[in-house]
Amino acid sequence: MDLGLTGKAVLVTGASRGIGAAIATGFAAEGCRVAVVARGEEGVTELTGQLQASGAEALPLVADLTEPDAAERVVRAAEEAFGQLDILVNNLGGGTTGDTDEAWLQTLDVNLLAAVRCCRAAIPGMKERRAGAILIVASISGWMVGGGMPSYNVAKAAEIMYARTLGRDLAPFGIRANTISPGSIMFPDGGWDRVQQRDPERIANFVERDMPRGSFGTPEEIADVAVFLCSDRASLITGADIHVDGCQLKPAVG
Ligand SMILES: NC(=O)c1ccc[n+]([C@@H]2O[C@H](COP(=O)([O-])OP(=O)(O)OC[C@H]3O[C@@H](n4cnc5c(N)ncnc54)[C@H](OP(=O)(O)O)[C@@H]3O)[C@@H](O)[C@H]2O)c1
Repeated sequence: MDLGLTGKAVLVTGASRGIGAAIATGFAAEGCRVAVVARGEEGVTELTGQLQASGAEALPLVADLTEPDAAERVVRAAEEAFGQLDILVNNLGGGTTGDTDEAWLQTLDVNLLAAVRCCRAAIPGMKERRAGAILIVASISGWMVGGGMPSYNVAKAAEIMYARTLGRDLAPFGIRANTISPGSIMFPDGGWDRVQQRDPERIANFVERDMPRGSFGTPEEIADVAVFLCSDRASLITGADIHVDGCQLKPAVG
């Protein structure tokens, strides 16, 4: 299938490793121009260096997207470098334990608000061109109870509803917005890999009890779906939450 993505300008947040890096790499492989955002300069320059070495146009952007003006800054930088922004992938996110106001606000900020700010900055340009695709990486934790981090469940549920409202409101402008809900994804130095190093038996039990296919997902399995969803081949999919979880039964190890 030709996804028709060649030359599209893409911004991926939280993209120096894990799922975000795989999504950025997936778009680059389809001939897109890709801006990669994270806080650590080393991570973004390493990834964009790899993408450039593979022949892609890639832009490293260093920003902490929990800072209120950072989203506007990175979206403008991508628009300036590429002339426009066709696709925005809000991958940034993560959980916090604790039940304090501070923990809740931090979780909502890094997941929901960072995405809202990036969308707010990117939508006017997309509206002008009457075309665009927005994707937010949510989680099965957004619709399945468990994991011991209620603020994370709530933040991911809010992302799903936010994308649904964007899907409805932006459809008349030719812009689509969706979420993808990954199950548990394993990659070197990622969150699950760290649990595996500490307690391999706990991870083995989790896989046996709660992952019907008998293994974690990979970042590439999320990236393939993400790239398709942002292509015109998915033109009728908007306001949707796509589960990419291998029918996982619980969102986290119990
Ligand atoms: N891994 C899973 O099992 C899983 C399952 C379901 C959903 N998800 C969701 O998938 C997304 C990616 O997860 P992941 O596990 O791949 O993440 P990860 O390993 O924690 O990577 C996070 C990325 O975001 C960057 N980052 C962190 N804080 C940032 C900030 N304030 N501003 C800008 N960049 C920041 C990190 O680089 P720096 O540290 O250099 O900033 C890194 O590139 C998240 O939304 C997560 O909730 C993950």
